[in-house]
Amino acid sequence: MKAKITLLPGDGIGPEIIVASEKILKRISEKFGHEFEMDSQHIGGIAIDETGNPLPDETLDSCKKSDAVLLGAVGGPKWDDPNASVRPEQGLLGLRKELGLFANLRPVQPHPQLLGASPLKESYLEGTDMLILRELTGGVYFGQPREKRINANGEEEALDTMIYSESEVFRIAKLAFDIAGTRRKKVTSVDKANVLESSRLWRKTVAKLAEDYPEIELENLLVDAATMHLLSRPRDFDVMVTMNLFGDIITDEASMLTGSMGNMPSAALGEGLNSFGKPRGMYEPIHGSAPDIAGQGIANPIGMILSAAMMLRHSLGLSSEAEAIEKAVDAVLNAGHRTSDIAKEGESPLGTMEMAEKIISAL
Ligand code: IPM
Ligand code: MN
Repeated sequence: MKAKITLLPGDGIGPEIIVASEKILKRISEKFGHEFEMDSQHIGGIAIDETGNPLPDETLDSCKKSDAVLLGAVGGPKWDDPNASVRPEQGLLGLRKELGLFANLRPVQPHPQLLGASPLKESYLEGTDMLILRELTGGVYFGQPREKRINANGEEEALDTMIYSESEVFRIAKLAFDIAGTRRKKVTSVDKANVLESSRLWRKTVAKLAEDYPEIELENLLVDAATMHLLSRPRDFDVMVTMNLFGDIITDEASMLTGSMGNMPSAALGEGLNSFGKPRGMYEPIHGSAPDIAGQGIANPIGMILSAAMMLRHSLGLSSEAEAIEKAVDAVLNAGHRTSDIAKEGESPLGTMEMAEKIISAL
């Protein structure tokens, strides 16, 4: 097959891990006889430096014309001035919104060989296999009004708006129930319905939808309790669905079940379809730009590489190819290869490209 992929390296370690995933895709295209046409574009801080805009038109055009988008990371201290008029993160948020990517799939599957790399006891982790479904284009990330202003006391104040409509909750919750139907048939919905109006609407909408899915068990958790249950009984969860802000926070917490943020991939899907009639998704590791280690060639490329595998599966319909990558990552971890974030004391860690090369060889 022939597919168009937009690559968005972005900032920090983004460019380093994107190169790693590009190499993997090249190997896949040779092995399985596909043609991947890659178009690399700027997003985030680098795009601000080059064009003044964190999401240049050219980037957006390329993404809209492609079958899928692979993104490294955005942001860094260089663009962190709280008074700056534009921020790298606006590029990423704008792209999610423009492409209508309302559903963020973040699988949490601690690798059996990496249980020791998690701060949690192995006995708690064994058997954990969950999918966190984060609503990605609504809630407090996008709600209006949002502004900074001077209040009646002459003091600066700032506000954001947490808002959800029924249809926004419905479409993400429906996806949660549908996916749970293909898994262990349990949905955990996370909200703050004891305090927030928007969460009460969330809970009510999910409950109504649940009536159409009698075979699926629905559990409701308040977000504060959910963060605790995630550590005390992670294996009890199957599909966890939650709003944008809570999902952002919970998935960082959940990444530590896998030993490192560097391991976790994600897929952002929506209503837009590509030339194969599949969702035109955006795929990115959940970790950020990691400015502290950028440029050193030591970042863990696994989250990025597994994101590329998710892209093959969800946007290009190439399940065997996706599985080949996942098996190769498994094999490399089983063989004891580690990057510095998941290495034990005394183990000599591999760099980004060395890890990628091991995975390519295993392919
Ligand atoms: C993520 C990131 C982003 C988010 C930032 C970079 C805007 O933390 O993808 O989880 O908050 O969504
Ligand atoms: Mn995040």
